[in-house]
Amino acid sequence: MSSPDVIVVGGGIMGCTVAWRLARAGLSVCVLERSVPGAEASTAAAGILGPMMEAEEVGPALRLGLRSAELYTQLAAELRAEHALEIGHRVTGLLRVALESEAGGETELEAHAARLRGSGLAATRDVALLSGEEARRREPSLAPEVCMALELPGEGQVDPRLLLPALSMAGERDGVRFVTDSVVREVLVRAGRAQGVRLDAGPLHAAHVVVAAGSWTSVVPGVPLAAATIAPVKGQVMRTHARPRLLERVVFGAGGYLVPRAAGDVLVGATTEHVGFARGVTLAGLAELITIATRVAPRLQSCPVLDHWAGFRPGTPDGLPLVGPTPVEHLWLASGHYRNGILLAPVTAEILVAQLLGQPLGVREDDASALDPRRFAATTETPQTPESAP
Ligand code: GLY
Repeated sequence: MSSPDVIVVGGGIMGCTVAWRLARAGLSVCVLERSVPGAEASTAAAGILGPMMEAEEVGPALRLGLRSAELYTQLAAELRAEHALEIGHRVTGLLRVALESEAGGETELEAHAARLRGSGLAATRDVALLSGEEARRREPSLAPEVCMALELPGEGQVDPRLLLPALSMAGERDGVRFVTDSVVREVLVRAGRAQGVRLDAGPLHAAHVVVAAGSWTSVVPGVPLAAATIAPVKGQVMRTHARPRLLERVVFGAGGYLVPRAAGDVLVGATTEHVGFARGVTLAGLAELITIATRVAPRLQSCPVLDHWAGFRPGTPDGLPLVGPTPVEHLWLASGHYRNGILLAPVTAEILVAQLLGQPLGVREDDASALDPRRFAATTETPQTPESAP
């Protein structure tokens, strides 16, 4: 295999997006994926674009999420115009609902609305607090128990089951080489600089290595992080179908969310489980999802269960992703996006490509710095392989 300019380790949403953007910038890029592109968390995700819903404070996550949601509009148009590919991008709006039986639910919604409005960000202009009746006028299937809703009209969704194939296809057409069934044994480091990776078949050299291996990132030998820095947080999801369509907007409530697809499917998510890499859907998980669905929209009770699955969100100690350089020169990370990998992929690629090429950032310097992987770097853990010896 000839040496590319950049090796990307991992063919999930981060690997695919970063690789495609690097290829568009003129670099030769090879994505090494141990399974097939999108095999793990990226395809398990519901695809919610909810920066205002998800950000717990006004800060980098909110600003970067809003920037990324904007980039999705361009990305969807680009994929449609240049490659005739659809990603299910829809700005449907989102409701966060409070239920009568939940202590403090309304107070939380009021605080959330006040926080967003106080941010001064243009995107928060249309944020509104609705009564239960107003919420049910927007979404008649909401439970009578819904007593208040926070309306976020600018939020929406993509469909990861369309997005991942679209990104890998567009990347391939723009020259990205995807190598599937390819296990990276180690990042090769010599004199403090990444040289490439070691595969079962031998070394593959490159000028730069980007590790985008989701929950597995910090266990790739040669990545200068303590092994538990990025840790799996399991989420189970269920798919049902309603005809006629029961919901238009994404709805958060009862500790989970409902994501209605255009053709009537409704995804119900998600559990939050710290169970290591224990795979699979459990009865307890399904019971939790059924409770969420039927409390928020009781009419879902008569809908069929069509599918269920689980994925591992890559969690980090401070809740922010790791995007950018490491103490090892030319070794970069794009990982640790926890609940917001789909949302943050375009802005992650924008930041990483700019950093790798030494170009101006499209976002605030301090927002990009908040993601700098060196805040967790464990420089002593770089392995002493023949390649890493001086
Ligand atoms: N993005 C929602 C979740 O991770 O469950």
